[in-house]
Parts: sequence; C-alpha cells; structure tokens
Amino acid sequence: MTWVITDKADGPMLGLVGLCRFVHEHRRAEVAYELLPEYRGRGLVSEAVDRVVEYAFTGLGLHRVEGHADPANTKSVRVLERCGFSREGLLRENYLFGGKFYDTVIFGRLVG
Ligand SMILES: CC(C)(COP(=O)(O)OP(=O)(O)OC[C@H]1O[C@@H](n2cnc3c(N)ncnc32)[C@H](O)[C@@H]1OP(=O)(O)O)[C@@H](O)C(=O)NCCC(=O)NCCS
Repeated sequence: MTWVITDKADGPMLGLVGLCRFVHEHRRAEVAYELLPEYRGRGLVSEAVDRVVEYAFTGLGLHRVEGHADPANTKSVRVLERCGFSREGLLRENYLFGGKFYDTVIFGRLVG
C-alpha cells in the first residue's frame, strides 16, 4: 500500500511512503518511506509517516506498526523517533547486501 508524497494535490512526486509486510491475523504492518534527495531535511517524510500511521490505526484497524532500519541510517531512525515509535531491539547481521551482513533496528508504535 503505497502513497506518493507531494506538496500540493497536482504537484510532482517528492517521495513515497507506504505500509508493507501486513500480518492481518495480528493486525500489524511495517511502514516504509523514501524521499528524493533534494526534498530531504524539511520534515516531509515525518509528516507523511504520521498521517499513514494514523490511517493504519483508525482507517485499517491495525494494532501495531513497525519500522525497520539500518542503525547507521540515522536520518531514518530520527524519522521513527520523531513519529513516536519506540526502539524495541536489534537484529544482529540479519540483512545480507552486497556480500556484507547488516544489523536491523526494530521500532514499534502501538495504537492509542
Ligand atoms: C530516511 C529519509 C526519508 C529521511 O529524510 P528526512 O528529510 O531526513 O526526513 P523528514 O522529511 O522527516 O525531515 C526531517 C528533517 O528535516 C528537518 N526539518 C526542517 N524543517 C522542518 C519542519 N518544518 N518540520 C519538521 N522537520 C523539519 C528536521 O530537523 C529533520 O532534520 P534532522 O534529522 O537533521 O533533525 C531520507 O534520508 C531518505 O529518503 N533516505 C533514503 C531512503 C531510506 O533510507 N529510507 C528508509 C529505509 S529504513
């Protein structure tokens, strides 16, 4: 489930925000996001993530939304912290990319 981020209704695409990895029986999903480099540093993704999480809880009836990030991706970690997610744990070297294993930090936000 993906939305385009724009600054006005008919404006160009500035980035994407979405919900993925739905587990319907447990009423949870994961939030994902990306901005074109020239639009970063203005709070656009944090605003979009807030809206999408609100929709996940009130519109879709989810109970939990997760955010997964490389702990070295401080910009992404800050988005999740700014949007009220709690840091819940670290999965060590669970992601293989380009022949190297990377850690994943898990964030979660609960309804209410
Ligand atoms: C992760 C990513 C989306 C973060 O982008 P971002 O622009 O830093 O995030 P936001 O749009 O929420 O902007 C927040 C920044 O704007 C600043 N800002 C400026 N004006 C602002 C305003 N009016 N309101 C809120 N924040 C504002 C904030 O201080 C913050 O900067 P800081 O992190 O240095 O404190 C971006 O780095 C990206 O696309 N990376 C590549 C893809 C990626 O890593 N995706 C996540 C995978 S887990």
